[in-house]
Amino acid sequence: MKKILVLVIITFFWSCQEDKNPDYESVEGLRAAYSSGDYSLWPEPELHESIDKDSFEDIGVLPGLDENKDNPYTTEKYDLGRALFFERRLSKSNEVSCATCHVPSKGWTDHEERSFGHDEQTGKRNAMTILNAAYAEKLFWDGRALSLEHQAMFPIADPVEMNEKLPIAVKTIQDLPKYQELFEKAFGEDQINMQNIQKAIAVFERQIVSPPSKFDKFISGKSELFTDSEVRGLHLFRTKAQCINCHNTPYFSDNQFHNDGLGHFGTKNEDLGLYYFTGDKNDIGKFRTPTLREVSMTGPWMHTGFFKTLKDVITYYNLGNPMPVSPRYFKKDTTRKRPQKAKMLEPLELTKQEQADLLAFIKTLTTEGVTKF
Ligand code: HEC
Ligand code: HEC
Repeated sequence: MKKILVLVIITFFWSCQEDKNPDYESVEGLRAAYSSGDYSLWPEPELHESIDKDSFEDIGVLPGLDENKDNPYTTEKYDLGRALFFERRLSKSNEVSCATCHVPSKGWTDHEERSFGHDEQTGKRNAMTILNAAYAEKLFWDGRALSLEHQAMFPIADPVEMNEKLPIAVKTIQDLPKYQELFEKAFGEDQINMQNIQKAIAVFERQIVSPPSKFDKFISGKSELFTDSEVRGLHLFRTKAQCINCHNTPYFSDNQFHNDGLGHFGTKNEDLGLYYFTGDKNDIGKFRTPTLREVSMTGPWMHTGFFKTLKDVITYYNLGNPMPVSPRYFKKDTTRKRPQKAKMLEPLELTKQEQADLLAFIKTLTTEGVTKF
């Protein structure tokens, strides 16, 4: 009798213990853990050995932005920045504004492979979205702009974008009565200059941020919001599919640069990315990890707009990012070595169902409403 009692007690404690260990094998267990609102109940992410575990930040709810101390928000600066963003007269032809390529109703990009700017010329790269750009530490695919303020002068002067000399752009704005009033309100009298144009545009852009997505709501406790496929996709994203190695933090980007195989080496589309900016051979073919927030709206994808569907993007990762290098790449400069793809990228062996789950999950990061402007 005593023995039986002991056995019963042990079994009781054992079963309690069991309850505390979340079940990550079933979709219901995963749903409960991920939608618990408590990140400590999430399964461990499967990180590549090269990732520094101490500085790693997991995906999560997008936090509000800290105030920008060098250029704080005021409604007057916002109104001015908004007018400048849509101002075609900032360009030489008077036909191209920032919004020509960053169209609010197109996810603040242009849905072109590569953008058309001044004189219908095609630029080299796919237009990035303005949405959530405030969370990027460096701007552009190659990080050559250090802040949104710094970034705003590039497109005005770029010969294939707005193609205007900066002093002329400033003069144009100075001569328009509408802007005399807007600048006076935002910065005071006689303050129409390039620096303040940049500041106002940056203040405007910092307001273009996503409202909570289905993903944010699900992980905050709305457990019924995700389908089973989306739950499995979220888990795959952080484990077997390894996306978490680079698309991490609540911004879904590590703000770092990686070669993920798309330098188009030796072809007419060759783009050496970060290398142009740093001159470091290790940076050849590296591009900034773009955010995946709002990603369903920002196609075609990658810095050249090479992929027309998100399904194609996933297929490419599943194959381990094959990186062709044409022999012409070495002919251009015989001292060139073969560019190195990020070591983390290997074939993933995801089943068709797993690929569909991953796609379903990524789509939960896109919201509605940010394009109404
Ligand atoms: C002709 C099309 C075109 C015009 C006009 C244009 N852009 Fe862009 N924009 C692009 C392209 C293409 C990129 C990516 C370029 C690169 O990485 O080299 C980009 C990138 C950006 C980024 C970087 C986003 C990020 O996450 O890094 C910001 C911000 C931006 N543009 C703001 C502006 C502003 C402000 C204006 C107007 C002053 C403007 N753009 C005008 C095409 C354009
Ligand atoms: C080694 C880091 C790394 C890993 C791992 C990674 N990505 Fe990326 N991702 C990038 C970089 C860098 C780019 C931009 C590359 C380019 O434009 O050439 C990118 C671009 C993308 C884009 C296009 C976004 C846009 O706005 O054009 C999508 C979608 C994407 N990744 C999804 C995924 C998914 C899904 C996974 C997991 C299967 C994944 N990534 C794994 C670094 C990574």
